[in-house]
Amino acid sequence: MRATKSVDELIREAQQTQELRRVLGPANLVALGIGAIIGAGIFVLTGQAAAQYAGPAIALSFVISGIGCVFAALCYAEFASLIPIAGSAYTYAYATLGRFFAWVIGWDLLLEYLFGASTVAVGWSGYVVSWLADIGVHIPREWAAAPLAYDPKVHQWTSTGAIFNLPAALIIVLLTVLLVLGIRESATFNNIIVLVKVGVIVLFIVFGAAYVNVANWLPFIPENTGQFGHYGWSGVLRGAGVIFFAYIGFDAVSTAAQEARNPQRDMPIGIIGSLGISTLLYILVALVMTGVVDYRQLGVPDPMAVAVNAMQSASGEPLYWLRHAIKLGAIAGLSSVILVLLLGQPRIFYAMAKDGLLPPFFSHVHKRFRTPARATLLTGAVAALIAGLFPIGILGELVSIGTLLAFTIVSIAVIVLRYQRPDLPRPFRVPLMPVVPILGALVSLVQMFSLPLDTWIRLLGWMALGLLLYAVYGRRHGAVLQRQRVS
Ligand code: ALA
Repeated sequence: MRATKSVDELIREAQQTQELRRVLGPANLVALGIGAIIGAGIFVLTGQAAAQYAGPAIALSFVISGIGCVFAALCYAEFASLIPIAGSAYTYAYATLGRFFAWVIGWDLLLEYLFGASTVAVGWSGYVVSWLADIGVHIPREWAAAPLAYDPKVHQWTSTGAIFNLPAALIIVLLTVLLVLGIRESATFNNIIVLVKVGVIVLFIVFGAAYVNVANWLPFIPENTGQFGHYGWSGVLRGAGVIFFAYIGFDAVSTAAQEARNPQRDMPIGIIGSLGISTLLYILVALVMTGVVDYRQLGVPDPMAVAVNAMQSASGEPLYWLRHAIKLGAIAGLSSVILVLLLGQPRIFYAMAKDGLLPPFFSHVHKRFRTPARATLLTGAVAALIAGLFPIGILGELVSIGTLLAFTIVSIAVIVLRYQRPDLPRPFRVPLMPVVPILGALVSLVQMFSLPLDTWIRLLGWMALGLLLYAVYGRRHGAVLQRQRVS
């Protein structure tokens, strides 16, 4: 018996199962995608990437990284419309590459979703603490920062003197409770937040456009300093690697496939629509930001606020309202990213437990709320702990490498399934086969190799732990469950 799960079986499962509620339409799915995408990447990282690597050409970095993501997004869209099951990339791998790869990717996706939620929660904590300080409320540093730091020069962990990042853990706990209560409630909350954050970003673009000083854009690609990655074209590329984080999340739409009303039609709309809208907003924000202020001043945790200060000096008017609006928009925006990532993780656990790769605890659905409540609570508890203990930089790189690995496997899996099962009805097809998936895998691999060696070592350590668990649990139970299904 082969250790793949038949696609026909998966499609049948998707049609039969009523456990989770099918309530999400195309607008909800696009909002879910935007909810997960626009966050720490644009609100925090853009300014630093512009200041250190790309200058005003950070807008070009967004274009390059965005193109890489479009290739992967098209692959996700084909799979999500063909196999609309909750597990996303995990399920696609099971159908094409087999149980072992399914486990590998399921374990890897923990890095994207669970660790991703923790990373963005740390960014959220930073914005909240800074906004509270603006209005005169000061949170003691030892309760708002990670107790651990990593020094890459000596490869050692050190203590920072802080105790725990309490706000970061707290936001995760709050959103976990919301997610247990219901998918509809969570989607409504997400829709409202998405409106707020997109509104704030549009406000920034429209208002800021009037203050652009073309001199700030010149030269658009600052001259390279002689060091790879420091301005010039190599800086544009490194900038693209850094702001890749900003695009993570469009694939989260596919984890809600079992809760979509018409997944065949709406999954591609949700995935590609949300990525398209976010890309456009990112490029415009990058242009305005580097147009109103010299890029060298943007290397701060709140670059949009710095841009607003520059607009204020140019207009001579106090723009307090805009500064508060931007900070509050960022706080709201970061919450929805955490929400959607915390929504994705238990649904992947759910799919894995249904296949016997994890204990039944993870596929338990709450009778009244119809959500995978136990897996959601466990996800929230672990994510809160990680957010409270670790710094944003280490977490962010681990999330990026994990996500890029998932993109690579999904891109390859699309090609495999086209050759294995050319007959399957594909409501959405990746164009220009196999060029697009090959480019998707290559661009992801190149970005993985641009990340530091330490991050690779952490990824390998994480994967080794995953393989150990597979050997002691998943392999045996997954096989037993599959035999029962077949007989
Ligand atoms: N793309 C998400 C963000 O930038 C993860 O916060």
